[in-house]
Amino acid sequence: MINSKISGTGSYLPEKVLSNFDLEKMVDTNNEWIVERTGISERRLASPHEQTSDLALNAAKKALEAASLKPEDIDFIFLATTSPDQVMPSTACTLQQKLGATKNCGALDIYAACTGFVYGLSIADQMIKGGLYKNILVVGAEIITRFIDYTDRGTCILFGDGAGAVVLSRSDEASSDNSKILGHTLKADGSLGHLLTLKLGGSRHPGSVEDLEAGHQYVSMEGRDIFKNATRVMASCCEDVLEQTSFSPENVDWLIPHQANVRIIESVAKRFKFPMDKVVVNIEKTGNNSSATVPMALDTAIRDGRIHRGQHLMLTAFGGGLTSGSLLMKY
Ligand SMILES: CC(C)(COP(=O)(O)OP(=O)(O)OC[C@H]1O[C@@H](n2cnc3c(N)ncnc32)[C@H](O)[C@@H]1OP(=O)(O)O)[C@@H](O)C(=O)NCCC(=O)NCCS
Repeated sequence: MINSKISGTGSYLPEKVLSNFDLEKMVDTNNEWIVERTGISERRLASPHEQTSDLALNAAKKALEAASLKPEDIDFIFLATTSPDQVMPSTACTLQQKLGATKNCGALDIYAACTGFVYGLSIADQMIKGGLYKNILVVGAEIITRFIDYTDRGTCILFGDGAGAVVLSRSDEASSDNSKILGHTLKADGSLGHLLTLKLGGSRHPGSVEDLEAGHQYVSMEGRDIFKNATRVMASCCEDVLEQTSFSPENVDWLIPHQANVRIIESVAKRFKFPMDKVVVNIEKTGNNSSATVPMALDTAIRDGRIHRGQHLMLTAFGGGLTSGSLLMKY
């Protein structure tokens, strides 16, 4: 039977740091409130010359290197983002060109907000299991701060830029580590789409003066409702995957959740009586990087030695749409 396994990971953070103390000078907020209510101390900002595809490229190169693969070995690229370079061409196509992948390599953007990476990884797994694809690059990359209103203290304290990438490769039952993706679930609830929006650039709000005056170029969020839904749906997706795979939480070595707010993460972990020292949390230094948080956290914990081959990992995410999903793998 064909399986898929992660053969390499990579991540990239832009250099410029925006600390809570910097934000204190920009908007009516303070370091204590942000740390206590979100767990975030600082986040990164891309430099003006960087585009989302550049961040993606940096993360992708590291993932390829870790997998000992070359760009020409990749036969498909998924790029999950909420902050594409532009509407058309897709950022995945731009990445394909910048990376030097071949023209036989398909490329597709995934618009599932912060869940985009988990969506991409789940779809890539099915494509490899279908037998036609061997190595699929799945990237989450964001310059979301370009769409943040720095007078809105409810959103500007949360978000940061960054990218994470994995190469998902074909493996078989006979491989020595027996790594594989065991199960996943993807969900959406369009009836709650209004809770988290970025309206500009689509057919409803293509970019008129009125659109700009209304602030449609910025992320808009009902924070408390998003918070409640986030804890509910991430827990429910994890429950579904545990049931699907007949796994119990005690058999999961690491929970790698979307990094939106440390209190959301703690609440999901508590639901499964999952100790926080088995949860990968890097939000303090990164903020919420939307679709990039899960692959960035995964790469960080692999590179610092916390995660190693043979362990069972539960990935879970939640985002605008509303979308949600979880994925269980043997790394
Ligand atoms: C946005 C968020 C941090 C706000 O935290 P909260 O604990 O829900 O805070 P509330 O909105 O209830 O506000 C509590 C108080 O703090 C104030 N406040 C809000 N933002 C503040 C800030 N940045 N600094 C200081 N005070 C702030 C509010 O005005 C309110 O004051 P009041 O009680 O005098 O009215 C939180 O709701 C959250 O993280 N939501 C989910 C966001 C998310 O995950 N988004 C991405 C999804 S992928």
